[in-house]
Amino acid sequence: MKRIAVLTSGGDAPGMNAAIRAVVRTGLFLGAEVFGVRRGYAGLMEADMQQLGARDVGGIIQQGGTVLGSARSEEFKTPAGRAKALANLREFRIEGLVVIGGNGSQTGAYELHKMGFPVVGVASTIDNDLLGSDITIGVDTALNIALEAIDRLKVTAASHRRAFMVQVMGRNCGYLALVSGIAGGAEAIVIPEVPTNPSAIAKTLRDAYARGKANGIIVVAEGAYDADELVGYFKDHKESLGFELRATTLGHVQRGGAPGAFDRLLASRLGASATQHLCEGTSGVLVGMIKNQLATTPHEEIAGKTKLIDKDLMRLADVLAR
Ligand code: F6P
Repeated sequence: MKRIAVLTSGGDAPGMNAAIRAVVRTGLFLGAEVFGVRRGYAGLMEADMQQLGARDVGGIIQQGGTVLGSARSEEFKTPAGRAKALANLREFRIEGLVVIGGNGSQTGAYELHKMGFPVVGVASTIDNDLLGSDITIGVDTALNIALEAIDRLKVTAASHRRAFMVQVMGRNCGYLALVSGIAGGAEAIVIPEVPTNPSAIAKTLRDAYARGKANGIIVVAEGAYDADELVGYFKDHKESLGFELRATTLGHVQRGGAPGAFDRLLASRLGASATQHLCEGTSGVLVGMIKNQLATTPHEEIAGKTKLIDKDLMRLADVLAR
């Protein structure tokens, strides 16, 4: 393969730049010309791309976000949008594409593969909800950002004997909340996979205080519960509960950090491996990490599906909050 392109799509994740750098430099090493597409599939439909050399991706490995830009494109979900993208790839004589992104992005990659265009995906999303990779680019950094916030909130929570609710991202997946809750020593973790209600959460915190705990931290996944409703319940029952609840929503703060060592290495390995597979003629697969080894999984098996939460981690969270 003599000409390949790379794009980043969907929510940015810390480590995407390391993956872009790995794709460009591995492609050059293998004798290919490499093009960078700006703003994901939206840019692909507008032929917004330029050739990249080794120096163009210098000094980006330590940067969060994506130097190529990203987007969520509704138009690309239509056959007409994808036809436009394909026509642009052909016009630029691009022979293969590396798609760095999460669920929606890999579904888009699968669509291009089905249209006969060679595509290889790189598993990248802070949500860690992608099948085909035990861990995805950006998760570790996002978790560390959440942990820093939880650690700080614990200090002020204990000083005032207040409960704190920390809302973390993750779309419909509870992974970020579950793992940051375990590693942050939360008293309660609320995830979409386990239905609960405000009075059950309040009871968990009341029991924790009764056992002599100094702080009550609830980590809530954004897809699990409406934060305002939870805060409202605690406000209405403040007197009977005997403690107040304050809420902090971390939101995009979790996505914007500089990648740590784990994400830089993961992204470098996945990006290089995806490029190698693409240049060797593989198409329609996602490159991820399974049992600590580089692995490819057909897009057909992962597109449109999400990874289930680890039940052992859920049990661990329950035991360790005692
Ligand atoms: O998929 C990554 C993610 O950060 C989710 O956790 C979150 O629900 C979503 O993206 C937010 O999307 P946007 O940045 O488009 O608001």
